Amino acid sequence: MAGIIRIAPSILAADFTQLGQQIRDAASADLIHVDVMDGRFVPNITMGPLVVAAARQVTTLPLDVHLMIVEPERHLQAFAKAGADIISVHWEVSPNLHRTIQTIRELGCRAGLAINPHIPAAFVSDILPLLDTVLVMTVNPGFGGQAFLPETLPKLRQLRQMIDATGKEITLEVDGGVALDTVRDVVEAGADTLVAGSSVFSGAASISANIAALRRAAGT
Ligand code: DX5
Ligand code: ZN
Repeated sequence: MAGIIRIAPSILAADFTQLGQQIRDAASADLIHVDVMDGRFVPNITMGPLVVAAARQVTTLPLDVHLMIVEPERHLQAFAKAGADIISVHWEVSPNLHRTIQTIRELGCRAGLAINPHIPAAFVSDILPLLDTVLVMTVNPGFGGQAFLPETLPKLRQLRQMIDATGKEITLEVDGGVALDTVRDVVEAGADTLVAGSSVFSGAASISANIAALRRAAGT
């Protein structure tokens, strides 16, 4: 199990007519997760650097930008300039991953690598020491509100061991279907950063109450 748990609300599930206020209402979180989709790597199209820049104006929390786009290297500078703190690219669309990770660093951001549910932990091993974050998709990327895939849990356990073996501070982030009924499993498997969209921004309870409930369910 990991140490401190960080909650990263995904604004994909926010009310976009009140985006600024919703981000302010998530001030008790640890990061703000921004899901960038291009309609090519994933079927959906969402937001780009303009929204990152707007988010930057209403929060001091680190902005965790998850690029679900092809050729992510073409857009790194724009996202860094817009105020991203962490930029994660997908393994599946990054043929020159080593260079891409270096570029993210050179732009002054922390570097993350995201992997889809079918990508094994072993594919991350050689690049792992150069990463700040491994982002494990626990749904197929593209949409919020999908059911958590429990078959990703063994991979999380493996990655936790691999990260611990590096002796470096690399965060293990889970993304998709993280809610009150799944949070315990992912934390026990070793995740330390929990992306949560619907479970933070939907339902009758307030955003801050939802964040607090997730922290309690995580046992922190
Ligand atoms: C899915 C995105 C997720 C999504 C999570 O492609 O990467 O960040 O917003 O949404 P929930 O928490 O509703 O599964
Ligand atoms: Zn995401």
